[in-house]
Amino acid sequence: MKNETLLYDDGVHKCVMFSLEDEEHHDYSLSVNQFLIIQHGSGVLIDPGSGAIFGELYDAVSRHIDPAKLKYIFFSHQDPDVAGAIAEWSVSTSAQLIVSKLWTRFMGHYGLMDMGRIVALEDQGGRIKFGSDYLQFIPAHFLHSPGNFSLYDSRSKILFSGDIGAAVLSPQNLNKEVDNFEEHRPYLESFHGRYMAGNRFCRAWVKCVRVHEIEMIAPQHGSLFRGEFATQFLSWFEEVDGGLEQCEALYGCKQ
Ligand SMILES: [Fe+2]
Ligand SMILES: [Fe+2]
Repeated sequence: MKNETLLYDDGVHKCVMFSLEDEEHHDYSLSVNQFLIIQHGSGVLIDPGSGAIFGELYDAVSRHIDPAKLKYIFFSHQDPDVAGAIAEWSVSTSAQLIVSKLWTRFMGHYGLMDMGRIVALEDQGGRIKFGSDYLQFIPAHFLHSPGNFSLYDSRSKILFSGDIGAAVLSPQNLNKEVDNFEEHRPYLESFHGRYMAGNRFCRAWVKCVRVHEIEMIAPQHGSLFRGEFATQFLSWFEEVDGGLEQCEALYGCKQ
């Protein structure tokens, strides 16, 4: 299928990436990825996006798993390109909806009625068992959202990093995978420099991530980082200067 990439499949456990765009509000400089993990007929959907792609994504997911078998839907943070269709997904599945505790009270503004469906993540994150393996919610606060998590899948060793690793590059010019980090770096720099809160958070996240064995980093926007390119990305990201380092320039007035 077009807009669909199999990231991992060992016969028992499967990870799929969808790259569905809202045709009407298409952003020509930023692609959007959605992810699905399946094991033993049970599924986890990651950052399913806005209402504009709900129908298309529902159909795409249905080709792999009955959406009624989705056990969890994980929202890395509160943005509309991540959680905009939380109401639609809540009525069309019986999945538990996992999001930072910071955002639970705001989900009603996306039309979510049944707050009992939400699993609120504490700031330190945590781990849930998934089949014979586990999923780890790694704190990514202020990178960029103040209540933000990345998701590590212990079986595939894929880190679903949310907005961290996002490349500002039109979908037409985007390589599915990074094959030269230095060539890819310019597409990372402006986004991370402006959206990330500060270097201390970047370092804290990299430290938490390095605890795990990482085969691939899969961001919500842009290209995948596999193997050595994931390692190079982490080394680059821990040196990123974010908002805190640019405070004076951003505010303009004398501090
Ligand atoms: Fe975001
Ligand atoms: Fe995003």
